[in-house]
Amino acid sequence: MKKIFTLTLVASALMASSAWAADPLVIKFSHVVAPDTPKGKGADRFKQLAEEYTNGNVVVEVYPNSQLYKDKEELEALQLGAVQMLAPSLAKFGPLGVREFEVFDLPFIFENKDDLRKVTNGQVGKDLLAKLEPKGIKGLAYWDNGFKVMSANSPLHTPDDFLGLKMRIQSSKVLEAQMQALDAVPQVMAFSEVYQGLQTGVVDGTENPPSNMYTQKMHEVQKHATTSNHGYLGYAVIVNKKFWEGLDEETRTQLERAMEEATEYANEIAQQENDESMAAMKASGKTTFYDLTDEERQEWIKQLRPVHQQMASRIGQETIDAVYKAVE
Ligand code: LMR
Repeated sequence: MKKIFTLTLVASALMASSAWAADPLVIKFSHVVAPDTPKGKGADRFKQLAEEYTNGNVVVEVYPNSQLYKDKEELEALQLGAVQMLAPSLAKFGPLGVREFEVFDLPFIFENKDDLRKVTNGQVGKDLLAKLEPKGIKGLAYWDNGFKVMSANSPLHTPDDFLGLKMRIQSSKVLEAQMQALDAVPQVMAFSEVYQGLQTGVVDGTENPPSNMYTQKMHEVQKHATTSNHGYLGYAVIVNKKFWEGLDEETRTQLERAMEEATEYANEIAQQENDESMAAMKASGKTTFYDLTDEERQEWIKQLRPVHQQMASRIGQETIDAVYKAVE
């Protein structure tokens, strides 16, 4: 009898200790930019908060700089469950079959961040994230980066200056049409390959917010840039839907809280990160930055605005109209 009792005790002690030492749940969060960017810092903040709010029951492993996967691969990896969380740029959902996201790429569709927020914080933003669900993806939040500058090794003051330039773009048909409208030659290239592409002359120029341009050292291989702010680059934070819905309620609530706060933080710092990167690039003297005159800006708008109409059948006129309405 005593022996059985002892055995039971040992067994329950073992069970208790294995429960105590249960492996934490791991969330792999893969992204393609440097840690020192709005998205990089947002991911790190989410890690910190998620681990704190779940009392260490969840561990978030952040893999920056395309360390794990490049642009296209990371979306496949998420769908397969090889990673659980990503924050791809809104320009990268087209190849997944969710073309409506390319509305964010339309040139000159947002005057400023306030316009953008009206879309991402409103019904349009919600509806767009819902379109990811049939793909096995759940959208959790929108994270900011900022408005893009155009860069090349020759000055880019008017649309004519783009003639024949090979311009690297993200995998968006709208960005392709935008470059074509400027008589440039668009070339899709993974973000991790852009620096080398510019350095070796595979492409002549590109577009990105200052924080990406600076942290990837693109300013070292681009002589000229124009602060055209012609288009916006931001992110959707996404998770594997099955994984997310399989979490117990308590953990999911804790993670939602962490995401909400990380989102606030990421969106708060984005502008400053971009301003600091711009200042650092100007101070380096490697790239000459040019601000458009009002007249030149009007020329850009005139040349690029027709892209909205041209892309209506791809994005869906309804989605474009919903965005127009949200920002009017
Ligand atoms: C790019 O490919 O230029 C950007 O989407 C990279 C990023 O994630 O900011």
